[in-house]
Amino acid sequence: MAIERTLSIIKPDATKRNLTGKIVAKFEDAGLRVVAQKRIRLTKAQAGQFYEVHKERPFYDELCEFMASGPVVVQVLEGEDAIAKNREVMGATNPADAAPGTVRAEFAESVGENSVHGSDAPDTAAQEISYFFSGLEIVG
Ligand code: CMP
Repeated sequence: MAIERTLSIIKPDATKRNLTGKIVAKFEDAGLRVVAQKRIRLTKAQAGQFYEVHKERPFYDELCEFMASGPVVVQVLEGEDAIAKNREVMGATNPADAAPGTVRAEFAESVGENSVHGSDAPDTAAQEISYFFSGLEIVG
């Protein structure tokens, strides 16, 4: 298995409830390493650009409003098979479908306010990482 990097976002519902450390612990316990991290506040336009792929979806406006509603913690996670591993630790998008012990099963409030985002494939991971981080900010 290859060492990969993936983009993770701890969303406003989670930062608001002071869950950053508990969520990072789940990533680290699964063998992922935080090789870059910053806490930022997105504008609605920046959230919209990040989620442009969902532009035509009915929840797009609500999603952008939510992502700009409070601080987020953006991270690069590194490890073996990091993209799939991170998605496993996060659990299903809808917390009602998320497996016990996953971040979304334990912490997410709804399908929209679902605590975390993770890249879904190598090409999107590379694109999403470069949206938030320069090479100099990623220290493996
Ligand atoms: P994420 O993994 O960040 O990718 C796209 C996001 O859109 C998703 O998590 C949810 O936060 C959000 N989303 C997906 N489906 C819905 C929905 N039916 N209603 C509201 N938000 C949604």
